[in-house]
Amino acid sequence: MHSVVHGVGADRPPGRRRWLRPLLITVGFGGLLGVAVACGGGGGHAASDDGGSNQGPGNQQQAMAAPAGTNLGLVDQGKQIFRSDTFADEGFWSGTLQLDKVIAGGQHGGVGPGVSPKTALSVGLKVDVDALPASVQQAIKAGQVNLDDPGVTLTLLKLNSVVGLRGTFNENGTMRSLGVTCAVCHSTVDNSFAPGIGHRVDGWANRDLNTGAIVNLAPDEGLQPVAKILGVDVDTVRTVLKSWGPGKFDAELFMDGKAFQPDGKSAATLIPPAFGLAGVNLHTFTGWGSVTQWNAFVANLEMHGVGTYYDTRLDNADKFPVAARNKFGHVTPPPGQKDQITSKLAALAAYEEVLVAPKPPPNSFNSDAAKRGAALFTGKAGCASCHVPPLFTEPGQNLHPGSDIGIDNFQADRSPTGMYRTTPLKGLWAHQQGGFYHDGRFPTLMDVVNHYNSFQNLGLTAQEKNDLVQYLLSL
Ligand code: HEC
Ligand code: HEC
Repeated sequence: MHSVVHGVGADRPPGRRRWLRPLLITVGFGGLLGVAVACGGGGGHAASDDGGSNQGPGNQQQAMAAPAGTNLGLVDQGKQIFRSDTFADEGFWSGTLQLDKVIAGGQHGGVGPGVSPKTALSVGLKVDVDALPASVQQAIKAGQVNLDDPGVTLTLLKLNSVVGLRGTFNENGTMRSLGVTCAVCHSTVDNSFAPGIGHRVDGWANRDLNTGAIVNLAPDEGLQPVAKILGVDVDTVRTVLKSWGPGKFDAELFMDGKAFQPDGKSAATLIPPAFGLAGVNLHTFTGWGSVTQWNAFVANLEMHGVGTYYDTRLDNADKFPVAARNKFGHVTPPPGQKDQITSKLAALAAYEEVLVAPKPPPNSFNSDAAKRGAALFTGKAGCASCHVPPLFTEPGQNLHPGSDIGIDNFQADRSPTGMYRTTPLKGLWAHQQGGFYHDGRFPTLMDVVNHYNSFQNLGLTAQEKNDLVQYLLSL
């Protein structure tokens, strides 16, 4: 099984930190960057690895002091893992899918035209400005960097500046392998430098990221093993990947092979934020388990890292035919390879625990209306019976059948729980793009309020609805 999951190219040792030593950049920015990196040395890399200036509003945890006797390093380790650890998933992303070759392009030891920075930004990948030497920032500002040149993408990867992607490179500058980290989906940038380029904000859902389009860059032979796991042909896999669109991913596809809802819409869900989750019992839209359960699940079965995952719920062949057939509930590292995931779960959970939801910018909502909305939320509208402040989900058991909230049970039935988890609502303002509810079916918060108003016969006036929306924007 593992040869399939982890890919045909798993013979390449990940060695993903090897490139951190001073390296000679031979491509990109017409030599300018070569100078910058040679002078800046590994310092720039180390700084980027530690997150640079970390000015994002989602990072207030920086100010926290650790009480005596606690494991001081755990949160920092978790941050490093969240941002930079691929769990040796290169075997899948480059070994199987060959995305390293597609990104590099024929001119730089890969295949095809390559992926330019412009294309990378257009599918929602983000660039961490703090990982770019000052001279490079100036060159970009001055329009001296060719954003149509795939060689520049390689340079950005060498600088570890592409959020959530990790390249390893050969001595001659060609890419050896590529992996993904948690940050590719659950971090973005604040666009302070340019659209798609800025300071990292961890925990924010990247609602620009078109994961389907990125995976669809893989050549036919790269998608063949994926098609085989799913029991379909490559064309079908491509149709499914194209159906996702920006800000979405389908974590259940590899379990049940269901790509579309009964009405023909994509079965993919929105990428949720990974902030504001401390104190919340069950995680994911359908309550698969704890943060730690889900992190192990994702690192093993979605990112395709090398690790251990046990979950006998996935043996249920009626519900999870793909997972049961491939024994995804009984994953161990392939012979001769070490578990790269299990030892990191504690630190990863510690970091997620301190990712608080970002506060809404001043004047981004009407505070008088929000105050009236708060009273409606706990009173007439009855929202707080499920979204209990300050968690905004139920302390305790936080699952509901679709019928409790007036929606179908399709996605809930794709989870072992058969239920939807009450979504914690803090930081809603920061993930409005793509809509609300698990599949984004309600484009705006007003649509959500209108839905509850008619489903529960709340009798809200137009002003009350607006007050509720202003309150939701203030959380
Ligand atoms: C390819 C994009 C992608 C990657 C990579 C990814 N996730 Fe997620 N994550 C998702 C999606 C989509 C969901 C929602 C899944 C669902 O509800 O079925 C999710 C759900 C979550 C949740 C639950 C949030 C909540 O509201 O309860 C957490 C926590 C999380 N991910 C953390 C991580 C961590 C940690 C990693 C790295 C080990 C990671 N994710 C990697 C896309 C991703
Ligand atoms: C019976 C419990 C329950 C009640 C009452 C309830 N909700 Fe929800 N709420 C949920 C569940 C469960 C979800 C997740 C739905 C999904 O993802 O498909 C949700 C989702 C949401 C979302 C979407 C969050 C996101 O990130 O997509 C918003 C906003 C919301 N509720 C606001 C409200 C408001 C406002 C009220 C009162 C008018 C309310 N809820 C009443 C259970 C409830």
